[in-house]
Amino acid sequence: MAKPSVLVTRRWPAAVEAQLAENYNVSLNTGDKPMSPAEIRQALKSHDAVLPTVTDTLSAEAMDVPDAQAKILANYGVGYSHICAPSARGMGLMVTNTPDVLSECTADLAMTLLLMVARRAGEGERELRAGNWTGWRPTHLVGTKVSGKTLGIIGYGRIGQEMARRAHHGFGMNVIVYNRRPVDRDLLATCNATQVNSVDALLPLCDFVSLHCPGGAANRHLINAQRLNLMKPDAFLINTARGEVVDEWALIQALMFDMIGGAALDVFDGEPRVSPDLLQCDNLVMLPHLGSATREAREAMGFRVLDNLSDFFQGHEPRDRVI
Ligand code: DGY
Repeated sequence: MAKPSVLVTRRWPAAVEAQLAENYNVSLNTGDKPMSPAEIRQALKSHDAVLPTVTDTLSAEAMDVPDAQAKILANYGVGYSHICAPSARGMGLMVTNTPDVLSECTADLAMTLLLMVARRAGEGERELRAGNWTGWRPTHLVGTKVSGKTLGIIGYGRIGQEMARRAHHGFGMNVIVYNRRPVDRDLLATCNATQVNSVDALLPLCDFVSLHCPGGAANRHLINAQRLNLMKPDAFLINTARGEVVDEWALIQALMFDMIGGAALDVFDGEPRVSPDLLQCDNLVMLPHLGSATREAREAMGFRVLDNLSDFFQGHEPRDRVI
C-alpha cells in the first residue's frame, strides 16, 4: 500500500524529519521559509496530512479548499488558535496538537522571564555589553526579591501547573490561580494554591502575574488598560501564552508611566513584528517566542505529532485530538 503523503510546513528537528521520511511520503520545507496562504491551500489539496506549526496562519482564507485531499492537520505545538476551527470542522479536517511534552520547558522559560525582569537581568546585560558598567555599588540596578512573593497564574492547565510547582517549591512563592473551570482541590493543594473566581480578583493580590491561558478571540486583550490598573504599582506581568492576550498598547502606557513594575514577554501580537514602542521600555524583558525551545521539547513535540499521525492512519482516535 502506498504511504500516506504528508507535508511539513517548517524545518523540524532532524531526528523527527528522518522518522517522518521513513514512515511517510513526506514533503519537507528544507528552506524553512514560511508558507503563504496560497501554498497552504495547495498543500491541503495535494497531501493526506498537513503538519503546520503555531506560526502558520490557517485562516478561513488559507483553508478555503473545497476539494481538499488532507484529512488531518497534525499541529506541531500545543496552541492551535492559528487554525480556523469552523473551517476545519466544515472541511471534516481533524486537528491534533502536542501537549504535555513542552510544559516543563515552557514553565522554565516563564520562570526565567520572571527572574530576569525582577532582577533587572536584561538591563544589566545591555549595560555590560555596551561597555557602560562602572563597577559594583550598593545602589546599582537594584531589583525586586522573588522568594516568598505572591504569584498569580492565569490559566491553570499543564503549563500553569508547572509554573506553580517551580514558584512554590523552588522559590517559596504563594500561588493564586484563576482558571475558567474549578481546579481540583488536591491539585491546588500540591502547591498550596488558592483559586479565585475572576481575573479582576486576582490582579490586585499579586506581585507577579503569569499568563498561561490559550490565545484566540476569547482571550484577546484579556489584559487591557483597566486590568493593568488593577495590578499593584510594583507588580510584574509575564506572558508566555499568546501575544494577543495582552493589549500591547495599554502595556506600553503602563510601562512608560510606571503604572506597573515591569513586564516580560515571550510572545507578541502579530509576531515576529515587535512594536517599536516596546523596544523603548527599559523595564521590559523580551524573548523571541522561546518557550518550548529546547532540544528535548522540540524533538518530543515532533514525535508526538508522529504518534498522532500513526493513530490517525491506523484508524484510531489520536490521543491529542482537539478538533
Ligand atoms: C506552542 O506550542 O503553542 C508554543 O507556543 C510553541 O512552543
